[in-house]
Amino acid sequence: MWQNLLKLPRPSPPMQSGLDIIGDIGIVNFHKRYFIFSKWLQARAILKQNKSLRTVVEKRGQVSGKLRTFNVRHLTGERNKTTTHKENNCLFYMDIEKTYFSSRLSNERKIVSESVLKLAKKNSKILVMFSGVGPYPITIAKLLKKNSIKAEITSNELNTEANKFMKKNVALNKVSDYIKFVDGDANLLPKKIKDKFDIILMPRPNIDDTFLRAALKMSKKGTKIFYHGFGTKEKVLEEIRRDTKGKIGRISIRKAGDIAPFKFRWQVEFQVK
Ligand SMILES: C[S@@+](CC[C@H](N)C(=O)[O-])C[C@H]1O[C@@H](n2cnc3c(N)ncnc32)[C@H](O)[C@@H]1O
Repeated sequence: MWQNLLKLPRPSPPMQSGLDIIGDIGIVNFHKRYFIFSKWLQARAILKQNKSLRTVVEKRGQVSGKLRTFNVRHLTGERNKTTTHKENNCLFYMDIEKTYFSSRLSNERKIVSESVLKLAKKNSKILVMFSGVGPYPITIAKLLKKNSIKAEITSNELNTEANKFMKKNVALNKVSDYIKFVDGDANLLPKKIKDKFDIILMPRPNIDDTFLRAALKMSKKGTKIFYHGFGTKEKVLEEIRRDTKGKIGRISIRKAGDIAPFKFRWQVEFQVK
């Protein structure tokens, strides 16, 4: 019986593991090395089915390096790597190859930004480390503006290209009054900034450095920290305990998406004692 089952034709695996849409660009991640003609046929079908798209590219290789970028290859439509993406009532202009941006994190950014809104008061000092092209600082600034809360957001990012787009995006979303920039390595922020913050966002890159020591230097009693960790829950809790050594209170942790089989992005919140 089971010999017959083995002889049954097996369904062929799907050609691609998903389509990411950023603005009017579709990014396809193909499972294997298919012939370019098969990829092109699939890209043409995607372009035809998704009326908002003008370009379809193939993702080549993994997100890598400190700047968390990846390469793409043009498959069909306009030859263009820059686009404007709409999310949570904000617009984000970017180059998909030079800057990190994942449209899959849209809901996560909404949840965290709304939590920040609940905590923020007039003149609250908010720090966003690892800002990328600006989705967290801009979404928070827009919510604060809508609710007439005049707080001060400091935005930090290492990638010089992302910083150029971030500045354009702040103007595009009309929140220049809310956001100031301290560009460069987040670990050097305590040397550049004398302020202590009420709220610190750490949407970290998936690299070994937790940046928690730098964040603690810019904290005071009661500072609320929103931290992103990667891997297993135990690993994330262990790295936080190791790098905060009794300086924080109760930790709350929840899954915020998967990054690989059995590995997740974790959203962690805690307060400085
Ligand atoms: C996971 S991305 C998050 C970007 C953005 N917050 C978002 O949601 O799209 C992490 C960002 O951290 C930046 N980064 C990496 N190392 C850094 C460092 N040492 N200091 C500041 N930013 C850094 C990367 O360039 C990247 O834009």
